[in-house]
Order: sequence, then structure tokens, then C-alpha cells
Amino acid sequence: MSTVLVTGGLGYIGSHTVVELIEAGHQVIVVDDLSNADKDVLQGIQGITGTAPAFEMLDLRDRSGVKDLFKRHQQIDGVIHFAASKAVGESVENPLLYYENNINSLVYLLQNCNENGVKNFIFSSSCTVYGQPEQNPITEDSPVQPAVSPYGNTKQIGEEILYDSCGAYGLKCISLRYFNPIGAHASAQIGELPKGVPANLVPFITQTAAGIREQLAVFGDDYPTADGSCIRDYIHVVDLAKAHVVALERLFQGNNTDKYEVFNIGTGQGSSVLEVIRAFEKVSGKPLNYQVVDRRPGDVISVYADTTKAREVLGWHAIHSLEEALDSAWRWERRIRNLDR
Ligand code: NAD
Ligand code: WQD
Repeated sequence: MSTVLVTGGLGYIGSHTVVELIEAGHQVIVVDDLSNADKDVLQGIQGITGTAPAFEMLDLRDRSGVKDLFKRHQQIDGVIHFAASKAVGESVENPLLYYENNINSLVYLLQNCNENGVKNFIFSSSCTVYGQPEQNPITEDSPVQPAVSPYGNTKQIGEEILYDSCGAYGLKCISLRYFNPIGAHASAQIGELPKGVPANLVPFITQTAAGIREQLAVFGDDYPTADGSCIRDYIHVVDLAKAHVVALERLFQGNNTDKYEVFNIGTGQGSSVLEVIRAFEKVSGKPLNYQVVDRRPGDVISVYADTTKAREVLGWHAIHSLEEALDSAWRWERRIRNLDR
């Protein structure tokens, strides 16, 4: 049995990955500062898996705290690093907060991995590194574009830090470039918990359907796409979580061909905003109150993944449909709002 340190393990993607790791037989240590998560998520994880992972409440910007963490846990075989600040708009308003959190936390973790002989590292990257691709679906070989936000820049810099660290310290790292994660665990015991007004499409849709928001604003229908709305690659969070387990096992087994590897993690399917709304209406059986408004500054028109590399090299592909993902998101929203009582 291997021991995996999961930073940000009570967050949205982290908590689903912790479940998959436990179910795959790994022992998990969760680190989270609860800046964007609730401690109750631990109960959700335990409810699903029957196991409570070890939990360390720690802000990874605390350099000596990170050192002590590695002292307390001598047997760490691999790290999956989710912890980061992720609100694009906030990163424009307060870039230094993002550089401090997303970069310092990564550097302190890597220093301690190096000092403690921890060689296996998985990093949460993002399709945001591609900006607006000239061609879709986009492959991993496509050039990384100048970042459109400080948040996006922290993902690009993070990848560069990891590439250099692999070269210098014998680290093995896989960066997973996520497309748009949506949905929740089938049990509805864990899911996405955005604080305040959601910035992302699917939580805004489910909150609107639940009556918490009055109306969804669709940001533009005059883009050069079939129906005029933007296109993204929406991936079920459980499929995404499973990709982490596969990637980590690749490193554990020494099957990686390069010390630093990058994989797109998406479905390979592009869906427009209006298609997502239609699919949601179908699975929920409810018409959604929405209105088309102006474009949102900074949005790319269209981005979706070429997933050939993940299929061929990792042996991973997404199995859930858009409808299944939206159905799970809606069941989660109903559960946390007590709508089924
Ligand atoms: P999330 O906010 O739900 O999870 C991040 C977790 O990290 C939270 O629980 C938060 O409390 C914790 N955290 C933040 N800073 C910390 C710190 N300094 N010390 C300890 N814990 C800290 O976000 P998520 O959607 O689960 O995203 C996970 C990762 O995936 C992030 O790195 C994010 O940038 C990346 N990512 C997310 C998306 C997305 O659309 N959700 C897309 C691409 C990449
Ligand atoms: C999806 C589509 C919006 C909300 C962001 C980050 C990116 C990545 C994922 C981490 C777009 C439209 C949205 C709404 C809408 N995160 N929309 N009304 O923009 O692809 O990416 O999250 O790495 O870095 O930028 O996701 O969910 O915000 O938007 O019409 O209220 O939905 O315009 O076309 P996005 P999103």
C-alpha cells in the first residue's frame, strides 16, 4: 500500500480524487487550510469509502509548517498537489495573492519532497495554458500561449518550476491539464461548494434551477460558433479524479518515459453554453431561466481536448456523458439545498 499526500484534498477535485485513491487501495494524507473547503467534506469521503483519511490543517504558504508536515509523515510515496487559489477574476484584482499562494506553496512542497526523497508528483494544471487555440481539438504539443490572467500564469510558471525540478532533483512529475470539470460523486455525498456567487457555468445553472439565483446570464451568443455561444470540454469530476490515480500509478511503476510529462484531461467533446443549458433542462426536466448578455471579457471562444495521448499512454479516457455529469451536479445541488424533502 502506498501513501499519498493530497494537498487541497478537501476541495472540489481533491475530494473526489481522495475517494478514488482510497478505493484503489492507497493510504491518503489530506492537507488543506480550509480556505475554500469545509471540514465536513471529510465525512462525505468517509461516508463513501468507509475510511477517514488522515487530515492535516495547514496553510502551505507556511514554510516551516510544510517542513514539519514531512517530518511527521516520513513515509510519503507521492504527492498530488491541488491546493491553489483558482478564481480568475480575483487573480486579476489581487495578482500577488495568487503568486504567493500558488507559487510559494508549490516551491515549499518541492523543497521538502527533494529533502525527503519523495520522487512522484502530480500537478493540477489547466487548459487555460493554451489560451485561444488556433485549432481544436488541442494536443499537448500545441504552444502554451501568454497567460490571459495571473491565475493562468501561475499554472504556466508551476509547470516550468516542475520541469526544472525534474531535471535538477530526479523528481518525476505529471502535469494534468484539466479542461472544465463539472458534476459530483454519484452518492451526492461530495460535490462542488462554491463560496459566494459562482463564477463557473454549471454551479450557476444548478443554483438558478434551485432558486438561489434568479437568472443565468449567458455571456454572448455572437461568437463564431454554430449557435454563437462559447465552446468548452466539460468533464465529469469523477472521470477527472480517476485520471489522477492512473497517472500516479504510472509514476509508481516507473512507466513514465520522461521525467516530466503533460496530459490533457478532457472528454474530447466540445459543448456550447446553449447546449449545456439544453442538456441540463433535459436531465432536470425544468426550464432554465436564462438571458443572453454581453460577452465576458477574457473568455476564449472555443477550447476542447485532443485526448489521444491520455488514451494511448495512460490508458485513460472519460466514460461519463455531459448529461450524466449534469445529472450528478443537479442531484448534489438538490441534496445540499434539501430540495427533495
Ligand atoms: P478548490 O478551491 O475546490 O480546491 C482547492 C483546495 O485547496 C481548497 O480546499 C482550499 O481550501 C485548498 N487550499 C488553497 N490554498 C491552500 C493553501 N495555501 N494551503 C492549503 N490548502 C489550500 O479548487 P478545485 O476546483 O478543486 O481545483 C483544484 C486544483 O485544480 C487547483 O489547483 C485549480 O487551479 C486546478 N484546476 C481547477 C479547475 C476547475 O475548473 N475547477 C480547472 C483547471 C485546474
Ligand atoms: C464556461 C462557459 C462562459 C458562467 C474557467 C477558468 C479556467 C478553468 C476553468 C481553472 C464560458 C460561460 C459562465 C455564467 C456563462 N479553471 N458562462 N454564464 O471560462 O472555461 O474557465 O474555469 O483552471 O481557467 O477561466 O469556465 O465555467 O467560467 O465558463 O455564460 O454565468 O460558460 O462564458 O463560455 P471557463 P466557466
